[in-house]
Amino acid sequence: MVAGEALGLPCRLEPYFDDATLAHSVGLVRDGEGALLAAGCGVERPPRSPTQPPKHGPVELPELADDVELTRLSHALTSWHLARPDPATPPPDAGLTPAAGPTRAHADPLGLIRQRRSHRSFAQASTAREDLDAALGAASRALGALGAPSLVDVFVSVRAVDGLAPGSYHFARELALLRAEPAIATRLQSAGLEQEVLGRAAFVVALTLADTAGQVDGPRDFRHALLQAGMAGQALYLEATARGLGACGVGAFFDDEVGELLRPGPTRPRALHLVAIGKK
Ligand SMILES: Cc1cc2nc3c(=O)[nH]c(=O)nc-3n(C[C@H](O)[C@H](O)[C@H](O)COP(=O)(O)O)c2cc1C
Repeated sequence: MVAGEALGLPCRLEPYFDDATLAHSVGLVRDGEGALLAAGCGVERPPRSPTQPPKHGPVELPELADDVELTRLSHALTSWHLARPDPATPPPDAGLTPAAGPTRAHADPLGLIRQRRSHRSFAQASTAREDLDAALGAASRALGALGAPSLVDVFVSVRAVDGLAPGSYHFARELALLRAEPAIATRLQSAGLEQEVLGRAAFVVALTLADTAGQVDGPRDFRHALLQAGMAGQALYLEATARGLGACGVGAFFDDEVGELLRPGPTRPRALHLVAIGKK
C-alpha cells in the first residue's frame, strides 16, 4: 500500500471474496494454496464507505479434519462461498485507503522500504515518548487499512521510554498504564524463548486478538485479525525506520506467558505478533 501510494497507484484492499473463485481465477493449486487477500492498485479515488460484508454460504470442508495440516485447515474454515448478490442491495464495498504508511512527512517512501531491515541489537538508551506515540499511530492506521473492523488490540511493554514507568500499557486512543513492572523486559525476554531482542528493546508493541473476533464475520475474523496484525507489524517497521530506530518482529513466544505479562488474569490478551523497537 505504501509503494502504491508513492507511485500514484493507491491500493484498495479487498478481504471479502469467494475463495474458490479467486483461487481458480489466479490459478492456485487446489488444496495446496489459498488466497488471503486481494489488493487492487491504481483505483481512482478509492471509496471510503463502511464495509458491508457480502452474503456468504458454507464451503466444502475436509471430511476428516485430522488429515489436514492445521494452517490449511484454518484456511478452509475461514473460507467463504459468496451467495449470488441480491440485485436490490448495492455491492459490498470494503475499500478503504487510510494512510497505512509511516509519518506522512517522509519524503521517500520507496527508499524507506528499501532501507527497512530487522534490527536486533539495541542500545540501552531510552527512546523519546514521541517515537512511541508515532509508532502507535502508525500501527493504528494500519489496523484500519484492511477495510474490515479492527480485530486487534494494542498493548505495549515499556522498558525505557522518556517519561514513562516501565510496565505494561494498553493503547486505544490513549496510552493507559496497566501495571508498573520494572523487570518487564527481562520477563518478556524469557516469555519469548530468551530472545535478547525483547529484553533490550526500548519498548515492544504487542498486537493481540480482540474479544470481538468471531462476532463480526464469524471464523473469517481470525484470518482478518492475522492480516491486520501483520500489516500493523510492518507499519511499525516503517515508522521505526523513518525515525532512525531499529525494529524486529517476534513471533516465537509462549502465548500464555506473554498474555499474563501484558494483563494478568481472566482478561489475559492473546498475543498474535510482537514488534520490538529501540535505538540502534
Ligand atoms: C511474523 C514474524 C515473526 C518473526 N519472528 C521473529 C522472531 O521470533 N525472532 C527474530 O529474531 N526475528 C523474527 N522475525 C523477523 C524475521 O526473521 C525477518 O523479518 C526476516 O528474516 C526478513 O528479514 P528483514 O526483516 O530484515 O527483511 C519475524 C518476522 C515476522 C514478520
